[in-house]
Amino acid sequence: MKPEPNRSMEYHVLPPKGLLNDPNGLIYYKGLYHVFFQWNPHGTDHSFKYWGHATSSDLVTYEYHEAALQPVDWFDKNGCYSGSAIEHDGKLYLFYTGNVKSEEGERTSYQCLAVSEDGMSFKKLGPVTRHPEGYTQHMRDPKVMRGEDGVFYMILGAQRDDLTGDTVAYRSEDLLSWEFMGSIMSVREKLGYMWECPDILKLKGKDVFVFSPQGLEPEGYRFNNIFQTGYYMGCFQGGRFHWDGQPFEELDRGFEFYAPQTFVDEKGRTILFGWMGTMPSEMENAMPTVKEGWVHHLSLPREVSTAGGKLVQVPVEELRSLRHEKKEYSGRNIGFEIPHRAYELGIRLEGNVETFDLLYRNEIKIRFEAVGRRFIVERTNWATSLRETRSVTLDGNLKSIEIYTEETSMEIFINSGEEVFSLRYFAKEDDRKVSMEIEGAGSGIEAVSYRLESGRE
Ligand code: FRU
Repeated sequence: MKPEPNRSMEYHVLPPKGLLNDPNGLIYYKGLYHVFFQWNPHGTDHSFKYWGHATSSDLVTYEYHEAALQPVDWFDKNGCYSGSAIEHDGKLYLFYTGNVKSEEGERTSYQCLAVSEDGMSFKKLGPVTRHPEGYTQHMRDPKVMRGEDGVFYMILGAQRDDLTGDTVAYRSEDLLSWEFMGSIMSVREKLGYMWECPDILKLKGKDVFVFSPQGLEPEGYRFNNIFQTGYYMGCFQGGRFHWDGQPFEELDRGFEFYAPQTFVDEKGRTILFGWMGTMPSEMENAMPTVKEGWVHHLSLPREVSTAGGKLVQVPVEELRSLRHEKKEYSGRNIGFEIPHRAYELGIRLEGNVETFDLLYRNEIKIRFEAVGRRFIVERTNWATSLRETRSVTLDGNLKSIEIYTEETSMEIFINSGEEVFSLRYFAKEDDRKVSMEIEGAGSGIEAVSYRLESGRE
């Protein structure tokens, strides 16, 4: 039986009910985008993990299906954890981690395979790798890809026996038998106690190694969330990542963004979805949507590329088909009401911007200060009621902001995707005011807004 879709949001992938976390198995297969996700259909906690399944022909509207993988076998009885998809000889191969806990609470991780001929029903084939020496049972989230040499590589988030994070690789000729190769890192880098959800993006001129390390201490404005997602640049070849030495950079500067995955679609675009997002359990339990029986959603699909040694992310162009009721505003001081639950606001800034301020529904404050080039986002923490901020130093001046919001979610793309902030927020339902103000000689704001609607029944 297909689950009933959850209508709380217009264009994000969200759980029909229960809890959603990581995006899994992203692939364009036999004419459809398949978006799988970590899913607890039984409640809003993390006690059960299935692979939920949605498909789309346009990355804008989604159809939800029965869970693709259920945690019912000896090798995955405590969770079908995250993983990836690859097509081979017309079949769809899903690789995932079977999480097993003994009665004493001891963990065993199995890297498992399930195969499908139609992308809808999956046959589990069980574990395909052997656990290597030197690593704890915190080994998970297989991302499988085909190298330029024709060999298949599986990379896995891992923890060394000395309790430091790492990513390891296995190789295979046929996707069925796998040989352990060791750490992918050319240089041993100490960064937290566990690396989750590794991914390699092959972009023009650069390879990007994206992963989600746990256990980083905050460093000023950086690493202020409970767990972080970021990347190294370099070159991935023959199962090894030759890191160019540039420090670990956060991929999203907001409050809720974690465990992203990418895939290359039929147009050759590299598209990323993330989870919005991981948070301390007291915040997760206090999420107002828990009362409605669901929690969390995926980020927008974002097309990624590199520019100036950075990862750049923009919403996929298909999202423009959501646009209705265009409105335009200009001036140095702008105020209006948004009667919509799903909304897009594009802002261009002109002249010499000294400061820019935006107040959204009396809840989210966005501020840019040219001195120090700081871009700051402030919201209320719904568990503590305290105001909190995340911020970043821009490379240059603030030129543009593109905001996508739903009733409780916002994604902010700055300077054509050079920086992104993703966050959840909870504003008063009837407070729908937006105001913007700019300071600086000859400065001005040009804004365009749209109501977003998918047109689905
Ligand atoms: C990341 C993660 C993965 C794991 C999954 C379990 O959020 O912890 O490492 O496979 O979630 O749901």
